[in-house]
Amino acid sequence: MKPTKDDVERIDREGLYKDYESWPEQAEQAMKIVVDLKEREVDKIVYCGMGGSGCAGDIIQDLSFNKQDIPPIFVVKGYHLPNFVDSSTLVLAVSYSGETEETLTALEDALKRNCIVVGLSSGGRLEKICVENGIKHVKLGKALTPRTALPSILYSTLIILSKLGYELVSAYELNNAIDTLRRVRSSIGVLNNLEMNEAKQIAYHLHDGYPIIYGTQEYRGVLIRFKNSLNENAKMHALVEVLPEACHNDIEAWYPSALNTRALFILEERDVKLKKRFDTLMELVEKAGSKYHIIYTKEDTLFKKLMSTLYLLEYTTLYLAVLRGIPPAPTPNITLLKNRIRLHQQA
Ligand code: F6R
Repeated sequence: MKPTKDDVERIDREGLYKDYESWPEQAEQAMKIVVDLKEREVDKIVYCGMGGSGCAGDIIQDLSFNKQDIPPIFVVKGYHLPNFVDSSTLVLAVSYSGETEETLTALEDALKRNCIVVGLSSGGRLEKICVENGIKHVKLGKALTPRTALPSILYSTLIILSKLGYELVSAYELNNAIDTLRRVRSSIGVLNNLEMNEAKQIAYHLHDGYPIIYGTQEYRGVLIRFKNSLNENAKMHALVEVLPEACHNDIEAWYPSALNTRALFILEERDVKLKKRFDTLMELVEKAGSKYHIIYTKEDTLFKKLMSTLYLLEYTTLYLAVLRGIPPAPTPNITLLKNRIRLHQQA
């Protein structure tokens, strides 16, 4: 049943799907990084990264929400560091290519402010700046695009933080989540038929409408990441909404003349009030003449839930690209803009 492996290979000419297939091994590889860092007291952590390199920051911030003894984590997706950044701030400068202007500018600023800095990239100017300034640099694993390098970026960052004494996810749990990724892969891979493949089913559900995705606070980073991959892989716009906040605004937009929308719910039924909110939203979606699909997260820990949902949704964006007949790997508009900025800098 479509999209078949042949369909995927025909449309995904660059073979982005192979990068996705290697996520468990990519994470396993990242577990082996040797980070020789001295534990040093910091009182805040700032993660700087754009697009595919920024996503891990959102997820790390979500993971820190219920943790104790972890300094506050801020994510910067732009050129400028907040005013409070000083010499007791740990700055993680993350750019897969190592060439992203915003991240490089933030890195230079962190150096001027005497921050504790760690750089992560696959090479590029970021690595060069780190070497020249005697800063710890972690080389990220090989991938076709920054977004497909997510396990490498996320696992490397979590290991760096653990090494510094800020353990958000234990090594045991990181390893367990790799098994989870393997299990998820065996059900959503390109060879699995639509009937048994939830990623293909969600792709079908979303492919002819405007996706509106709902989830709870702990899935915020996963939701943002899904939106980004819908944009970059499937070349689609999408809207993400976090509960309970969405029940104070977005909920009103489910009006009987709603656009050609398709809702997707990442369901967490931890408490009765949250369930009421989800149920009411679903009822309103139906009344507005739209359709919804529900993802039930079955894993037993938050990290495994986040990883399995991320993986499911990434494959969904791949299948959506194929259903729409659009190669998922190239991002010509991002490239166009980066080239224009480069030319402007050289002028
Ligand atoms: C994702 C992607 C972009 C880049 C972003 C920043 O696959 O291509 O979102 O991640 O333009 O570039 P890097 O990650 O190289 O710093």
